[in-house]
Amino acid sequence: MRTHRIAVIPGDGIGQSVTEAALRVLQAIGLHEGFSLEAIHFPWSCDFYRQTGAMMPPNGIEILRGFDAILLGAVGWPSEVPDSVSLHGLLLPIRKAFGQYANVRPHRLLPGVKGPLRVDAFDILCIRENTEGEYSGAGGRVHQGTADEVAVETSIFTRRGIERILRFGFEQARTRRGKLASVTKSNAQRFSMVLWDEVTQIVAKDYPEIEVSSYHVDAMAARMVMNPETLDVVVASNLFGDILTDLGAAIQGGLGFAASANINPERTAPSMFEPVHGSAPDIAHLGIANPIAAIWSAAMMLDHLGEQHGAQKILASIEVTTRWGIGTVPGRDTTDKITSAVLSAIETQGK
Ligand code: IPM
Ligand code: MN
Repeated sequence: MRTHRIAVIPGDGIGQSVTEAALRVLQAIGLHEGFSLEAIHFPWSCDFYRQTGAMMPPNGIEILRGFDAILLGAVGWPSEVPDSVSLHGLLLPIRKAFGQYANVRPHRLLPGVKGPLRVDAFDILCIRENTEGEYSGAGGRVHQGTADEVAVETSIFTRRGIERILRFGFEQARTRRGKLASVTKSNAQRFSMVLWDEVTQIVAKDYPEIEVSSYHVDAMAARMVMNPETLDVVVASNLFGDILTDLGAAIQGGLGFAASANINPERTAPSMFEPVHGSAPDIAHLGIANPIAAIWSAAMMLDHLGEQHGAQKILASIEVTTRWGIGTVPGRDTTDKITSAVLSAIETQGK
């Protein structure tokens, strides 16, 4: 039997319940598809920080390296650990250490979900650069706490980093509707973003069949609201991609539907799969977190692991669930009800 070894990091808040939901679905699909999932749990979280003074053990990255993939819930509990500490102690170092430079985030309306827009159908695949740019982590503070304090935070854009994320985007566009939008702010940021635009033109020559356009990020934000149906693959820098994908989540009806994959395309280290939403402390104990984003992310994990058929089946079951009207309105159905519906949709579809 095929076995996939998965590191599971439920993390904080609703990360715990949506990860459990995703695992239930994965186990059920495994039975249908004939694979087994060896899921090893790691309690790395803000709780772990309170007990040990760190978000993960010093050899955490080395521990994770041996797995086929990582399933992550959410990281952050700002009332106890500042986000700048928790995120730089767990999520962000994993993305960087494992070269997960392509953050893939699909945005489309599921059947039965009413988004806030007038358009009733769109299908955007946002490809966010995930290891450098505005998140490079280069910077510092001097004269701390005085009136002369200075903070510097430098974006780092490398030709190699820009080229590889664009190539990844072009390859995705090839398998979809053949359109790619490259997002910068090169009218204001005249060094890094002009380099990005230049590299877009160069890489585009290798993909003559793809229709390429360049947008400034402010215009892209407007387009995603006014004409999302005109967009196919959207490639953006780390911070721009971060912001645009929360917008993407909003237009698809809410963060409870937004899935993501942090991919190492060369497969030299494990990739990581996580919903776009955070730990949502405000609803963490209510049992109403929508598990669809986490379950969809788990489907992306299966796809990455070569289980395309199982991945398709999960997506189809999510669609059956929302078509039944379950999980379509934020906060109405319990996590358990939505998960059970996805599970019975899997059973109805059979093998
Ligand atoms: C995301 C999140 C993270 C990010 C935060 C929690 C650091 O917002 O995955 O979109 O900015 O990358
Ligand atoms: Mn974000």
